[in-house]
Amino acid sequence: MSIPLPHHRPRRLRTTPAMRRLVRETRLSAADLVLPVFVREGIEEPVPVTSMPGVVQHTRDSLLRAATDAVSAGVGGIMVFGVPRHRDATGSGGTDPAGILNVALTDLRAELGDSTVLMADLCLDEFTDHGHCGVLDEHGAVDNDATLGRYADMAVAQARAGAHVVGPSGMMDGQVRVVREALDAAGHQDVAVLAYTAKYASAYYGPFREAVGSTLRGDRATYQQDPGNRTESLRELRLDLEEGADMVMVKPALPYLDVLSDVAAVSDVPVAAYQVSGEYAQIEAAARLGWLDRDRTVLEALTAVHRAGAQVVLTYYAQVAARLLAGRDPS
Ligand code: PBG
Repeated sequence: MSIPLPHHRPRRLRTTPAMRRLVRETRLSAADLVLPVFVREGIEEPVPVTSMPGVVQHTRDSLLRAATDAVSAGVGGIMVFGVPRHRDATGSGGTDPAGILNVALTDLRAELGDSTVLMADLCLDEFTDHGHCGVLDEHGAVDNDATLGRYADMAVAQARAGAHVVGPSGMMDGQVRVVREALDAAGHQDVAVLAYTAKYASAYYGPFREAVGSTLRGDRATYQQDPGNRTESLRELRLDLEEGADMVMVKPALPYLDVLSDVAAVSDVPVAAYQVSGEYAQIEAAARLGWLDRDRTVLEALTAVHRAGAQVVLTYYAQVAARLLAGRDPS
C-alpha cells in the first residue's frame, strides 16, 4: 500500500466552499445563456407544452413579458420560434413580413432594442404543411438548392423585422453562404449568422415537435447528421467557416459533448451548443418523480456543456439558471 506523498493531495483544493470557488475552472453565467421561446399565431392565452413542463407557446403579448423578464434576469439572448396558424408547401409564413415569427421579432426589437441579442430560427419546418425543413421536389425529397432561395428570403425578412442574429437550422448544404450573401445584398451586413453546424438527426427533438405543432411524418435523416458520426462535424465546421458563419453551434448538447469539444478545439469563432427539448424533458420528468434534484442537475448539465467548449448555451432553463446562479452559494 502506498501512502500519498504530501504534494499528491488534490483534496486540499476541495476543503472549503471558498477554496472550491477560487479554483473552479468553469464558471457559468447568465450572460452565456440564450432562452429559446415559442410564439403562436391566433391564440388568446399562452398554451402549455405538455412534454416540456414550464414551457409555453406564447401569445404576442405574453412573449413580450417573458422576454423582458428573461432580459431582466440577465439572460444573454433570446431565440424565437414561430408557430403559424396556416402552413403550406413552401412555408410562405416564414418569409411573409406579417408571418407570426416576423411580427414577433418586430415586437421584440421595438420593446427590447439592443438590450439583448435577438435571434431568429431560420428554418421552414414550422411553416411547411409537410413539416420538412425545406421544400420538396416532385419525388417528395427535400430539394437542397430550391430551399436555399427560401432561406435567403427568410433571412432578409428576419433582418428587416429586427433580428440581430439569424440561425439557419435546416442543415441544407450551402445555407450559410446563401444567407450571408442575401443579408449583405439587402444592406444587413451587421446581422450575424449563427450556423447550426453540427446538427444531428436526434430523438431528443421529440418534445419540440409538440411545441411547434409539427406535422412531420418520417424523419430528417437525409439532411441532419447521423448520430454515429464525429469527424463529419469537422467537415461541416470547415464549410460553415468558409461560408461566413459568425458563430457555430452543436446540437443536441449533452449527448454530443465529444463533438462539441472537437469543434471548440479548432473553431476560431464563438461556439454555441443547444440543450434541446428532450434534454429538458428528461430532467423535468426525473425531477417530477423525485428521482433527480432539478436545480443541481440543471446547473451541472449546463456547466458540463460550457466546460466541453460551448461559450454560449441555448437552453429552455436560461431564466431558471440565471436565477439559480444569482442566488448560488459558493459550494
Ligand atoms: C428546426 C429546429 C428543430 C429544433 C430547433 N430547430 C427541430 C428539428 O430539427 O427537428 C429542435 C430544438 C429542440 O428540440 O429543442 N427548426
